[in-house]
Formats: sequence, C-alpha cells, structure tokens
Amino acid sequence: MPVTPADLAVWKQRRERFVMLTAYDALTARVLDEAGIPLLLVGDSVGNNVLGYDTTIPVTMEEALVFTAAVARGASEALVVADLPFGAYQASAAQGVGNAARLVKVGANAVKLEGGRRSAKAVRKMTRSGIPVMGHLGFTPQSANAFGRRVVRGRGEEGDELLADALALQEAGSFAIVLEAVPAELGARITEALEVPTIGIGAGPGCDGQVLVITDLLGLTPDPTPRFVKRYADLRATIAEAAARFTKDVAEGHYPGPEHQYH
Ligand code: KIV
Repeated sequence: MPVTPADLAVWKQRRERFVMLTAYDALTARVLDEAGIPLLLVGDSVGNNVLGYDTTIPVTMEEALVFTAAVARGASEALVVADLPFGAYQASAAQGVGNAARLVKVGANAVKLEGGRRSAKAVRKMTRSGIPVMGHLGFTPQSANAFGRRVVRGRGEEGDELLADALALQEAGSFAIVLEAVPAELGARITEALEVPTIGIGAGPGCDGQVLVITDLLGLTPDPTPRFVKRYADLRATIAEAAARFTKDVAEGHYPGPEHQYH
C-alpha cells in the first residue's frame, strides 16, 4: 500500500523508527521502493550529487521538475517528497504554492522547504491547498551563504529559536520536519516537544526517523563527507574496478565474447 503522510504520524505514536533516502532517478527509486524504503526525497542535493554544482543553491525549478518526475515514475509504494529549490518559495506564499503544485503535477506526493517561522505562511497556504509539506530546520543548505563556515546549528540559545521554528512549522500544518546538523540533545528535545515526526540527518538518535543522501550511503561521494555520514557500500571502488576490468577485457580481446555477438 502506498505510504501517506498519515502513516508517519502512526509510526511516531508507536515509536517505530523509519528512514528516508534521497533519489534522483527512476532506476534507483525503483530499487529503493522495492527494498521497502518508505520515503524518497528528491532533494535539491541533486545539485551537488548529480549536476556537479558546489551547493544546492543553483538548482532551478525546471531541474527539480525533471528529477521529481523521474523518481515518481520509478516509485510505486514510497512517498515521494520533492524539494522546493532556492528561489521557488521565498518571494511569497503564493509563489511557493504555485511551484509546489508544479512538483505535485509531475508526481511528488509532498514537498519540502527550508526555514521555520519565516516559511510558516507558505506552509499554511500549501497545506490548505492540499499539498503535504515537510519542513527542514537546522543547517539548511539553501542558506549556506548566510551561515558561513559554521555548520552545526542550534547550540546554546539558538536551540530555543529552532524549537520555536519547529513548533511554528507544526502549527502551520507540516507533517514532518527534517533536522540537519543540530546537537543530538536538541534533536531529542524537539522530537519530544512535537506531535509530528522529526527526521534527523546529523541530529542524533532521538529523532523519529533518519535520512541520508543516497550517494553518501553508497560511498559514491568523495571525502571529506560530513560527520553524520555512514557509508554502507563502496561504489566508488566498485565502479572504478568494473571500468578497469572492462578496459582490460577489451585490450586483451576477451570482450566482446561469442555470446555478445550478432550474426
Ligand atoms: O536535499 C537533500 O538531500 C536534503 C537532505 C539533506 C535532507 O534536504
């Protein structure tokens, strides 16, 4: 049965921890969907992980639409959440609803946007328009220029600000909130205070769910990676080795073999 935002509320009540992974293409989405991953995020991290940008900031709506449509075509059970890219919702709530609707039209089941109280108006308008919204607080990569080099957010008094942001997003109708790069204690505190689930990335084990970027999980991203990354595979080595074996086979005349030929 397809996953819906209401399922996340049930998981929180039952204290069942869950996962979300990013996906940017139909094939990977299908593999993850078949593996039972309940939430697929078409993150604007497509910018650094697929498109070769240094940050998520250059990602456009047109790019977000292409990748969202691809992931939606590959997923059948997972809830597909699409990131609203930088510049797609900051001007006004109306701009945000318009762009969120475009993502839903190509197959997103929900959208994600960054910011707390400053984004609450847009979140309210989207949810009232029938678009489920996931929030994103803590280190929000679209604000990288404003943040400077300090990655971990919410230390000291900033923690109270983040809690107020999380409560504002919940009040505005967000069905879940991503917490990125915040102290583990704050991740647990916000999770306790909220009725909606939190999904952590570098926010400690106290969150209701955990999310990782698929290229980090698979070991495709080169070093250095953030502290919260755990690699579950070493695809960089696997790909390099496969390419080297192919080169050797061709050089030695072992490929193509008789079974690879047409007559
Ligand atoms: O774009 C993305 O991949 C994200 C995750 C880091 C949550 O927003």
